[in-house]
Amino acid sequence: MKLKNDLILRAAKGEEVERTPVWLMRQAGRILPEYRAVRNSLSGFKELVETPELAAEVTIQPVDILGVDAAIIFSDILVIPDAMGLPYQMIENKGPFFSKTVKSVNDVNALNIPDIDDALSYVVEAIRITKKELNGRVPLIGFAGAPWTIFSYMIEGQGSKTFSKAKKMLYSQPDLAHELLEKITDATILYLKAQVKAGADMLQIFDSWAGILSYDQYLEFGMKYVNKICNELNQVPLTVFSKGAYFALREMRELNCNTIGLDWNMDINNSRKLIGNHKTLQGNLDPCVLYADFKRIEHETKEMLCKFGKNRHIANLGHGVYPDVEPDKVRCFIETVKSFNH
Ligand code: CP3
Repeated sequence: MKLKNDLILRAAKGEEVERTPVWLMRQAGRILPEYRAVRNSLSGFKELVETPELAAEVTIQPVDILGVDAAIIFSDILVIPDAMGLPYQMIENKGPFFSKTVKSVNDVNALNIPDIDDALSYVVEAIRITKKELNGRVPLIGFAGAPWTIFSYMIEGQGSKTFSKAKKMLYSQPDLAHELLEKITDATILYLKAQVKAGADMLQIFDSWAGILSYDQYLEFGMKYVNKICNELNQVPLTVFSKGAYFALREMRELNCNTIGLDWNMDINNSRKLIGNHKTLQGNLDPCVLYADFKRIEHETKEMLCKFGKNRHIANLGHGVYPDVEPDKVRCFIETVKSFNH
């Protein structure tokens, strides 16, 4: 099916665009009352993720309601540990919780490399339905967590300020850490390939906890595995978003991907110099700008657009949109990008 709006794919590949494309990380869910209405009719987040028709519905909501240039499939990075044998619960107002975590060699050996069409058939099906219902309006983004970020949840069992248990394993049992990271990487490659086969037009890898590692550790335990994933996935444009990893931008230049996501701490001009001109950059407005008044949002957005320039940029926030941001403020950001003339 030919896409009616393929701006984001062209921007990712470094082709000319009429204007900068825009979408928001965490646009599906979090902010829209229409999302909450669907979510509240169910037992919880997990039921929504595991019901393909409804996952497709909330995936498309931001396209209809906010006018973004891409949809991102409604799911979570934690479906991978779940499919490997560590089920998660999503606790209201708290976040994810795993009753079983990985502590020993036996725990790592007990994890399985899932058959995606079986264990994660609900994601594959949600992608198929979404593609059909989008009917070529905008591209669909598939995603997965980076191995290091998934590893962190598998060891900690929940969110953490320091992720010290996960980091402890890197220092105390580095071989076991590598074994676990290898396994997560293998599962993730299969998972992303299945998403492309089901119809994902583009992929993003979220390394949300990259920034808590030292430079050396990030290269050894983080980027090594992201690199392996990139090398296996060449069918569709791929974005790597490593939050907080400003210290590794020069190395990201060598990653086999099209786009690098920048968070709002990263300086645009310096990042461009370090990454070079052969990659597209995505980002990077501070999500808190959307708490400002409309005039300020417009001003900050235009400044950002000027710094990135017209080509090789996908406009986004520097991390996911916060749950208490008013949809009209999000619309202001999107409209400012869409009407901007470079
Ligand atoms: O971008 C999108 O809108 C697509 C869907 C998506 C979700 N999670 C839905 C979700 C995506 C891409 C994610 C990624 C994700 N999940 C990340 C990486 C991105 C990032 O923000 O750094 C991480 C670290 C997670 C793990 C996770 N899932 C946490 C920590 C939480 C609780 C707090 C939160 O973020 O809301 C979730 C729950 C979650 N995932 C919700 C949604 C819409 C909220 C749950 C609800 O509706 O009750």
